Amino acid sequence: MNPTSPSTQSFRAIDVIRKKRDGGELSQNEIESLVNAYTRGDTPDYQVSAWLMAVVLRGMTRAETAALTDAMLRSGEVLDLSSLPGKKVDKHSTGGVGDKTSLVLAPLAAAAGVVVPMISGRGLGHTGGTLDKLEAIPGFNVNLPVADFRRVLKTCGCCMIGQTAEIAPADRKLYALRDVTGTVESPYLICASIMSKKLAEGIDALVLDVKTGSGAFMKNEKDAAFLAELMVETGERMGKQVVALITDMDQPLGNMIGNALEVVEVVDVLRGEGPEDLRQLCLELAGWMLHLGGVSDTVAEGKRQSEKLIASGAALDKFRQMVELQGGDPRTIDDPKKLPHAEHSMTLSSPKSGYVTTLQCEQIGTACVILGGGRERKEDSVDPAVGIVLHKKVGDAVSAGDPLATIYYNAEARAARARQLLEESYRIADAPAREKRPLIHRVIGKPGEKN
Ligand code: URA
Repeated sequence: MNPTSPSTQSFRAIDVIRKKRDGGELSQNEIESLVNAYTRGDTPDYQVSAWLMAVVLRGMTRAETAALTDAMLRSGEVLDLSSLPGKKVDKHSTGGVGDKTSLVLAPLAAAAGVVVPMISGRGLGHTGGTLDKLEAIPGFNVNLPVADFRRVLKTCGCCMIGQTAEIAPADRKLYALRDVTGTVESPYLICASIMSKKLAEGIDALVLDVKTGSGAFMKNEKDAAFLAELMVETGERMGKQVVALITDMDQPLGNMIGNALEVVEVVDVLRGEGPEDLRQLCLELAGWMLHLGGVSDTVAEGKRQSEKLIASGAALDKFRQMVELQGGDPRTIDDPKKLPHAEHSMTLSSPKSGYVTTLQCEQIGTACVILGGGRERKEDSVDPAVGIVLHKKVGDAVSAGDPLATIYYNAEARAARARQLLEESYRIADAPAREKRPLIHRVIGKPGEKN
């Protein structure tokens, strides 16, 4: 960032807002000036909110998207991890409900010898956030300074933190603002947000998990593919190997939603247990991480290696080590009772017999936010203990009275609202849905691929 460049001196946020509102194309200077002024605190939230909404409604050209990504990337430090041996590979998801794959993948790929420098975000809108999940582990510190980030990476091969004041600070501010101003769902803003953080990490390769379906920001596959291509192109332009998997988010991933509950499910998967959809997706993404990390010749071999690392306990050991190095209580990994627990629970029963044909995924995410598992305003804190456990998912047969889901809560009024949303989310019909959605829809950009 160069806060004293001549272009920033004559910059007026109102001009940039108006230009975008009217469908104009912003110059690199205008975008850079806005990002820099906001990062410094010179342009207020309300003006940037207006600009973000104009971008959501008007879109951006490829040149504007590249300029925004660059400006956000250069708002802070770009790490140089070349002194650490081995390829540095990260994975990032565009956000979903019950998506806890990052917590499985960082230690799993590190156990295989890939270096995983992971900078993640908090819950956004109805989706959960990796940092919020990690913070459900008592003591876990996601705010490590860069020097400690390097130390943990060097010691155990993976480290998971949030944006620091040093790394992509512009995204940290913009992300929090978008969360509460209805300005998340723009492929251009999502691309710049994700890629600026990822490119600042000093990675060689990146595996992207682009979600599609009712719980994703990109509801249909066409929009997800557009975002995937935008991100692959942006990464390649910066000389990185990037692959994007378009994966299903038409129902929550796994059975548990809520920060501490999701940590429990992560540990299950790292023990070789856990729900099949979550386990399969983790293995597929790990296969790509190992392949791009140069430790397996093919993706299929990377998957097999990952299975072995789970079976031997090496991946779980790595997770325990990372938790400890980041200040977390490693006993929670072996004894989930040490994780935060909600005071109350209530179970939702099926009103009739039949098959679950739909689970309105976004509504389930919103129900978790309402319980306190996510934020409705920027300054809200999250309750790590609350959440939802699904007992029946799409395709399952149910009998009248069967438990469909359990809500874990700490506030009665919130639980009542969440329950209503959850009830409305389940659709039960006499026959199963004819089409089964695949877990992995498509793969975009196949760098050095050998399947
Ligand atoms: N994840 C991010 O990091 N940024 C977004 O904008 C959306 C999902």
